[in-house]
Amino acid sequence: MIGRLHAGLAAAEPACRLVAIADPEPGTANLAREFGATWYDDHERLLADEPLDGVILAVPTRLHAPIGLACASAGVHMIVEKPLADSVVAGLELVEAAEATGVHVLVGHHRRYDPAVEDARAIVRSGGLGRLVLVSAIWAARKPDDYWTVDWRRSPGGGPVLINLIHDIDCLRYICGEIVEVQAVTSHAIRGFEVEDSAAILLRFEGGALGTVAISDAVVSPWNWEAGTNDNRVVAWSGQNSYHFMGTSGSLEFPNLVTWHQAGDPATGWGRPFVATPHGLGPRSAHAAQLRHFVAVIRGDEQPTIDGRDGLATLAATMAVHEAATTGRPVPPVDVRRPSRTG
Ligand SMILES: NC(=O)c1ccc[n+]([C@@H]2O[C@H](COP(=O)([O-])OP(=O)(O)OC[C@H]3O[C@@H](n4cnc5c(N)ncnc54)[C@H](O)[C@@H]3O)[C@@H](O)[C@H]2O)c1
Repeated sequence: MIGRLHAGLAAAEPACRLVAIADPEPGTANLAREFGATWYDDHERLLADEPLDGVILAVPTRLHAPIGLACASAGVHMIVEKPLADSVVAGLELVEAAEATGVHVLVGHHRRYDPAVEDARAIVRSGGLGRLVLVSAIWAARKPDDYWTVDWRRSPGGGPVLINLIHDIDCLRYICGEIVEVQAVTSHAIRGFEVEDSAAILLRFEGGALGTVAISDAVVSPWNWEAGTNDNRVVAWSGQNSYHFMGTSGSLEFPNLVTWHQAGDPATGWGRPFVATPHGLGPRSAHAAQLRHFVAVIRGDEQPTIDGRDGLATLAATMAVHEAATTGRPVPPVDVRRPSRTG
């Protein structure tokens, strides 16, 4: 699914050339032909035969770490699709191998390249809402039945926690600061697969703000990132918000980027009229912006916006959701940080 999108973007991007595609599925030879690229049925042969500057890893999640390690030992920079790996231990092994070989690992949280995320971060962090107190987020949609014909999506790691929530966790970390505690309940009551189809999550951020996140891939809903931003044409556009940030002097709806304040001093009355301020939206092509950034990182012109260790912190906070749901207790995410842009 996502590899096809990356291949199309790389083939169309003047700053780079799509050289080859490795995929054991024979049908993908046609995709390679369509883009004038060489097809390999095995990534090891591709890495041995082609002098590459970079690789985009868009394979099932359990293969991110092993194939990423092969790229690191071949000295090839990479974008690893999210989640960085299927466990924090596997992710750490990949990050440390890349750090040791001087290879850049970018993690495919492409939402970081959406200008609205940068704007929301600036509004929240500049104190434009006063002190941030609450965040409420939803990712809810109904994935079609044919989505589930792919085996790995029905097994642990293939559910909405590691596939969808992880993007929201990454955005919320970036906008609000690190997550220090997670509580969660998960359910697989609708589909009955081994993997969850829904979850309710509580977050505590390092600055003291609290968050709730509701996720499900089994419901019909206009409230999810893709429907709100129109950044993935697989999902119909709704234009609805999926995040609300609330502070002591105002609130922000997202992604529509409207702030809400009340006239006068908020400390002296809640009866005054609301003032809604739209902040305008920049152009939206986050996946393409991610690719151009990757090229700039390879050329040494830019530092990674989201490097392996930053992506690992997002993975650790997301894995805490599974642990909290299993134990029924509050869980602090494993601390994998070095100073990063998120902090
Ligand atoms: N950033 C995003 O918006 C986004 C969206 C969707 C998926 N993803 C992530 O991308 C990854 C892939 O998801 P998908 O839905 O595209 O999966 P998919 O199952 O549609 O595609 C995976 C592809 O990998 C191939 N593959 C399997 N083993 C391989 C190997 N050893 N070497 C090379 N290729 C191999 C499969 O044949 C298949 O073509 C997942 O980790 C997922 O979380 C990210």
